[in-house]
Amino acid sequence: MEYTRLGRGGPRVSVVGLGFWQAGGRAWRLNGHGWVESVVGEALDRGINLFDTAEIYGWGRSERLLGEALRRLGAGDDVVVASKVGGFRVNTASIIRGVKGINRRLGRTVDLVQHHWPPPVYVPLCATIRGLERAVLEGHAHYYGLSNYPASLMEKAYSCAKRIEPVSDQVQYSLAYRSAENRLLPHSRQRGYTIIAWSPLAKGALAGKSRPSDPAQKADPVFRAAAGDTRLQNALDTVAGRHRATRAQVALAWLIAKGAIPIPGTRKPERVAEIAGSATLRLGEDDIRLLDEAGREYLYRWGRTYRALWYMRLIPCLLQVASIRLMGGV
Ligand SMILES: NC(=O)c1ccc[n+]([C@@H]2O[C@H](COP(=O)([O-])OP(=O)(O)OC[C@H]3O[C@@H](n4cnc5c(N)ncnc54)[C@H](OP(=O)(O)O)[C@@H]3O)[C@@H](O)[C@H]2O)c1
Repeated sequence: MEYTRLGRGGPRVSVVGLGFWQAGGRAWRLNGHGWVESVVGEALDRGINLFDTAEIYGWGRSERLLGEALRRLGAGDDVVVASKVGGFRVNTASIIRGVKGINRRLGRTVDLVQHHWPPPVYVPLCATIRGLERAVLEGHAHYYGLSNYPASLMEKAYSCAKRIEPVSDQVQYSLAYRSAENRLLPHSRQRGYTIIAWSPLAKGALAGKSRPSDPAQKADPVFRAAAGDTRLQNALDTVAGRHRATRAQVALAWLIAKGAIPIPGTRKPERVAEIAGSATLRLGEDDIRLLDEAGREYLYRWGRTYRALWYMRLIPCLLQVASIRLMGGV
């Protein structure tokens, strides 16, 4: 496994992590969770040490299962657990309450607490950043990061930060969703935070899955676009053939080559070795050029600037909490 640091002086993490939304809610069907411990065990055996979850994944269920698995497997201090407080937590009291809840469910102090999406437009961003700083200063979390923040709000976050800077921004980023490359990626290099890439496989479509089976895949236009894009699939196949790799490994290695840390999700322990293999797959300039060209339209198709989950900024906090709670989380 290869390792890097999150941000300037953040924790040491594997260049590919794993996401645990799948252990949470109905979007991925609640089909029993026997797999969580096996997936985590396989990951630890292969040196993957970054595990991502969130308080809204099954309203805490994903965090509980991940924490339990890590405990039962005797995972060491080198494991980096990243979780997220909902974007409806916008001030210090609410953020600290959220992080304490995360720690209770995980059974450990969360390493990286991320703010899941930017606060509603009526909230002063500095109040939120102050809350995240306080969570770290008081020892409830080791580091903080943001999620789904476009470059403009990341810059604002930096100007708000008084004592501690964010180490990461977790955003939707894959060969089929490339808005982050236009402004956010250059900004992350300038400021020194790490881009963590969610849905790095376009929910399986970039791994070769052509028909959606889970609600999360059915509801995702990016899945449909990637699954139906013959040119992109052929380019993935060509590069995979050159390296005796799989499409999933190529899609993940392309993100790693761009300097991002992909966190694919899987409920299948047998896929973890494949995911870990992406860390040591070295793509050549020709490979990158071919993939860049094949996925060129996705630089702009979903917006020139990053705007996944932007609509949450228009929904008042109380309404956000009420609807997510009513659904039992996502
Ligand atoms: N910050 C945010 O707002 C946000 C939003 C969404 C997700 N996330 C995080 O990012 C993580 C990953 O994103 P994601 O789950 O949306 O998408 P993803 O990682 O792109 O896709 C995950 C799905 O792809 C399928 N897959 C993986 N390898 C495959 C293969 N070789 N062949 C066929 N299918 C394959 C898996 O199915 P199986 O389960 O059957 O293996 C899995 O459920 C999440 O778990 C979560 O932690 C964060």
